[in-house]
Amino acid sequence: MILVTGATGQLGSAILTALRRRGVDAIGSSRQALPDMRRIDFDDPSTISFDGVDTVVLISAGEAEDDIVIARHEAAVTAAERDGVKHIVYTSVTTAGDHLAFAAAHRWTERRLERGTATWTILRNGLYADLFGSLLTWNGARLTSAFGEGALAAVTREDLADAAAVVAMTPSDHVHRTYELVGPPITAADIAHHLNVSLDGTSLAARRAALDQSGLKPFQPAMLMSIYTAVRHGFLAQTGDELTRLLGRTPADAVSVAAAVASSRRLT
Ligand SMILES: NC(=O)c1ccc[n+]([C@@H]2O[C@H](COP(=O)([O-])OP(=O)(O)OC[C@H]3O[C@@H](n4cnc5c(N)ncnc54)[C@H](OP(=O)(O)O)[C@@H]3O)[C@@H](O)[C@H]2O)c1
Repeated sequence: MILVTGATGQLGSAILTALRRRGVDAIGSSRQALPDMRRIDFDDPSTISFDGVDTVVLISAGEAEDDIVIARHEAAVTAAERDGVKHIVYTSVTTAGDHLAFAAAHRWTERRLERGTATWTILRNGLYADLFGSLLTWNGARLTSAFGEGALAAVTREDLADAAAVVAMTPSDHVHRTYELVGPPITAADIAHHLNVSLDGTSLAARRAALDQSGLKPFQPAMLMSIYTAVRHGFLAQTGDELTRLLGRTPADAVSVAAAVASSRRLT
């Protein structure tokens, strides 16, 4: 049986759906007590049971400081080893993401898997297309971007979910493989063109000042600023063909996904 953690989340739920669409015996886990889901909270190791599970799809439990995220992942991997899980599929971040403020917890987890007892596959996921759209802002009817002319090799969650399902269904074909799952590069200008709106640039300093005023959690502005600067300065633009090969098809159009999210955030 396959178990997908973080299964109420956007990526985990899409992976579960992708597996079930293919007729695979899969369950999800969540911190919440929900029907048809195992209750697992990585912050409380006593709740973690992978009994009867052959393959765990370990969705990174980010959105916290690195020490918290690393403790969560350590607890999950240790429990998987204890319970006899054979294979762990981990959703990491793209290699080019080494420049991002949240990369350390991903790379730590990859190393933990490499020295562990279960076999593994690492999915080095590119940044989500909808995240790119959500990081653009509006000034009235004009789109504003701190990405400069930089491009992001963006990818949709649905494509990442399909790729994860392909791997989890046939783990023996993907033992000790690390996949670089990035899509075609997109820019803020592509989004503005798609939406037929004008585009203004803004500086990193101006963007940081706005984020500092927006009531985010303490670690979040640094996280987001690292995305802006990495895209702006060309670190996240490089694409590849491993996503296409795993999917057996062309990845979905990231521009329309990012544009839809940007558009939904327009106030006027
Ligand atoms: N590639 C990218 O662009 C990008 C962007 C943002 C985030 N990420 C990473 O990718 C992950 C999945 O993305 P997403 O869009 O699905 O995020 P999401 O919708 O926020 O879902 C994250 C899931 O993590 C689970 N989680 C959080 N704390 C947990 C804990 N203590 N124990 C067990 N599970 C916990 C939650 O599951 P339950 O609520 O069901 O327990 C939550 O549903 C994120 O967690 C983050 O690490 C990647």
